[in-house]
Amino acid sequence: MSYYSDHREQFLEGLKQFLRIPSVSTAPEHAADVERAARFVADDLRNSGMENVEMIQKEGHHPLVYADWLNAPGKPTLLLYGHYDVQPAEPLDEWLSPPFEPDIRNENIYARGASDDKGQTYVLLKALEGFLKTAGALPVNIRCLIEGEEEVGGEHIEEYVAQNAGKLRADAAIVCDTEMFAPELPTICVGLRGIVYGELTVEGARTDLHSGVYGGAAPNPLQAMAEILAALKDRDGRIQIPGFYDRVRPPSPEERAAWDRLPFNEDEYLEKEIGAESLVGPADIPVLERVWAQPTLEVHGIRGGFIGEGAKTVIPARALAKVSMRLVADQDPGEATRQLQAAIAKLTPKGVKAKFQPIQGGPPSMIDPTNPFIHAAADAMAEIFGKQTVYIRSGGSIPIVGLFKQHLHIPSVLMGFGLPDDNLHAPNEKFHLPNFYRGIEAVAKYLQLLGT
Ligand code: BES
Ligand code: MN
Ligand code: MN
Repeated sequence: MSYYSDHREQFLEGLKQFLRIPSVSTAPEHAADVERAARFVADDLRNSGMENVEMIQKEGHHPLVYADWLNAPGKPTLLLYGHYDVQPAEPLDEWLSPPFEPDIRNENIYARGASDDKGQTYVLLKALEGFLKTAGALPVNIRCLIEGEEEVGGEHIEEYVAQNAGKLRADAAIVCDTEMFAPELPTICVGLRGIVYGELTVEGARTDLHSGVYGGAAPNPLQAMAEILAALKDRDGRIQIPGFYDRVRPPSPEERAAWDRLPFNEDEYLEKEIGAESLVGPADIPVLERVWAQPTLEVHGIRGGFIGEGAKTVIPARALAKVSMRLVADQDPGEATRQLQAAIAKLTPKGVKAKFQPIQGGPPSMIDPTNPFIHAAADAMAEIFGKQTVYIRSGGSIPIVGLFKQHLHIPSVLMGFGLPDDNLHAPNEKFHLPNFYRGIEAVAKYLQLLGT
């Protein structure tokens, strides 16, 4: 294992190069950068000695990077997943150092994608490199599938996995794209929320109208939008969509007890992570259960009418809201979408037309913590971090986990090395460098345990 401690400088240099590529998947002007990041991953895998390295292209989509090494007969096959695309860096003026010029401060590397997910993808790549450069062989069979569209819904990989189940045959997947519960606390995530993300449009009059001349008689789509959105939740935050909670599976008593034992302080969480006056949501449901095991309905943005400086007296003709629902087991994205659409239809006031159109989605995931691939992962992490591994869930979504289950019939091991204050999707995203180095060693230890 000394390869890993001897190569920290090279690992860090390589990570910086990876982070300098602005692979923002949602931005068409960055398409060439996204491609460059894919090539960076492919080249790294090839240089390590992985075989059959391939950039899988599809018109109008970002490339998938595939590689394998299948020379360990009788040993399990592990599918390594990560994403090399990142979220947009805006708002730029809130970054203390430029988002694509990695900067190291206090043992943290700051850059867009540092933690989500270039840094963690690179952890997987470097773990492979260590074996291949020293022993010239891996302890288990490995396939890699690294995507460039995770942050925009992952259409390409979804189609590829559905159509190539045979080629991707594996016993389990390992995904490094989640967080540890606390610094120094080795963590495996065994539940993720699903998501339905879409647009709610409300249309009223044929065109914008003078609000003095027509106000009182003409419908106002922004007012209607506000009424619909407000009625979808009660004052406690309980979602008022008929049937929405029917399939929500409550956590088991054992899981609830385990969550109670986690080092969680509500005041500190409010102060350090949220930074608002108070938390919201039903007071009788513990906070961790609210974010891990309860569904949500959120408004992300509203567009419509006049939003310039000063005043303009107008009744807008239309309004649009970006809305998402996070889903938990056993909710289904298709069913939840239909339930939301039906609820909106009932709540729409007269004079306007309202329509919810989904843009992207993915099912919730639950992973059985008693499966042997999880056990070995927990042991590997415990050994490297020197503490017992905890099992948590996460409120975020990684749609591929559900698709691996559905099409490949395999569990995913969510071995995350991010931290709760890594600022994912926000300004000043960072990755804690000790976690970067220990992450590489933990993944290496995991492969070694699986191979013995
Ligand atoms: N890595 C995150 C998801 C995540 C973050 C899981 C923290 C667990 C802990 C992933 O890149 C992400 O942002 N997913 C999106 C999914 C969406 C774009 C379909 C999300 O959760 O909003
Ligand atoms: Mn991610
Ligand atoms: Mn993300």
